[in-house]
Amino acid sequence: MADGTATLALGDKSFDYKLMSGTVGPDVIDIRKLYADTDAFTYDPGFTSTASCQSGLTYIDGDAGILLHRGYPIDQLADQSSFMEVAYLLLNGELPSADELSTFKGTITRHTMVHEQLAQFFRGFRRDAHPMAIMCGVVGALSAFYHDSTDITDPKQREIASHRLIAKMPTLAAMAYKYSLGQPFVYPDNTLSYTGNFLKMTYSVPAEEYHVDPLIEAALDKIFILHADHEQNASTSTVRLAGSSGANPFACMAAGIACLWGPAHGGANEAALNMLREIGTPDRIPEFIARAKNKDDPFRLMGFGHRVYKNYDPRATAMQKTANELLDHLGVTDPVFDVARELEQIALKDQYFIDKKLFPNVDFYSGVVLSAIGFPTTMFTVLFALARTVGWVAQWNEMITDPAQKIGRPRQLYTGPVQRDYVEATKR
Ligand code: CMC
Repeated sequence: MADGTATLALGDKSFDYKLMSGTVGPDVIDIRKLYADTDAFTYDPGFTSTASCQSGLTYIDGDAGILLHRGYPIDQLADQSSFMEVAYLLLNGELPSADELSTFKGTITRHTMVHEQLAQFFRGFRRDAHPMAIMCGVVGALSAFYHDSTDITDPKQREIASHRLIAKMPTLAAMAYKYSLGQPFVYPDNTLSYTGNFLKMTYSVPAEEYHVDPLIEAALDKIFILHADHEQNASTSTVRLAGSSGANPFACMAAGIACLWGPAHGGANEAALNMLREIGTPDRIPEFIARAKNKDDPFRLMGFGHRVYKNYDPRATAMQKTANELLDHLGVTDPVFDVARELEQIALKDQYFIDKKLFPNVDFYSGVVLSAIGFPTTMFTVLFALARTVGWVAQWNEMITDPAQKIGRPRQLYTGPVQRDYVEATKR
């Protein structure tokens, strides 16, 4: 590599490819002409060395444990901002003025209700359905209800769809929860904050008054901030890939939800708490550490390790702080939290985890906090999806307006049979 160019030698020929530089972070080699030049593709399962797009939203330095949204460090946003403000920032690129924030909140608030007929859609699900299964269905179904915001070539429709998605996710998430309990759905209360409204729709019943606990509201708002966006992760890439074909935004978000559900991604918060509960007491930690290190055992320490962070996930630091504060506030002494803290200390000193640079990620402590608030484990990933909708929507908008955007269409290294003639069934 020399002076803004990477040279590839292939056989007796060499090819030059331009380096592209971002504002910060590693350069990328622009290989868009590689196939035309060389008749060869690159091979990169899991996209570990591939930048799929240019983006101005979120920057991660995995070695230093830094996460920035539009340049602002996540710890500053978590401590000083609000989820609505971060949503505005991600969508629009700058922090809002007081007036801009108030207008934005007003717009989101006015979109919180869902079409009444959508309530009937829920009845098709079993009561014991996983709420993420319900979310995949109902979010995709939004495209059947809001035809006036599915033309992705119209910027106004894109904006309305974005606001609708951000506004309606808490309503749908709360409905999924209520449905599992057999309790009536609770309509949004637009006098409340985004997060306060979600808490009310989740925990109130029509027979009783409900008061939002400001500390729980603040803790949950912080959790939403910590999950709002995370660069080109699997679900965001899924949303972009689905959107690259011109699919409508509601369908794209449903695709993102489906991807997020997996235990290697958003499903890890549920898996992490289940694991901590299974460990139960600190004396059983060594047994689980040994299993995580055993190559013949598929068990992994859930909430540990990350594709990008090879240092402490800065979201985990903020989450641990929130866990401390909330458990104190609620007067909860959760043995699972003790197990988590002890497990973290043991793993951080263990050579296997040190060598592989495995640190706690955001999901390690989020389950403790969500469980203290009163959410069942099955709702954890739903809350992740609710918050990540902001990132998905912002990334989807960025993709649609990117002049370099093309339909996502990876190639492959074919290893199947070469061409052969069809054989009739009687002759096989
Ligand atoms: N426990 C034990 N070993 C691990 C773990 C773990 N949690 N994570 C990675 N390793 C080992 C892995 O076995 C591999 O070892 P070797 O090189 O000997 O084969 C090495 O570390 C590298 O792992 P990898 O699977 O190649 O790394 P990846 O970048 O493909 O995977 C990951 C990243 C997050 C999927 C993985 O660390 C993992 O499965 N962690 C547990 C699930 C989890 O907590 N996921 C939440 C991610 S953060 C929230 C989000 O963004 O969705």
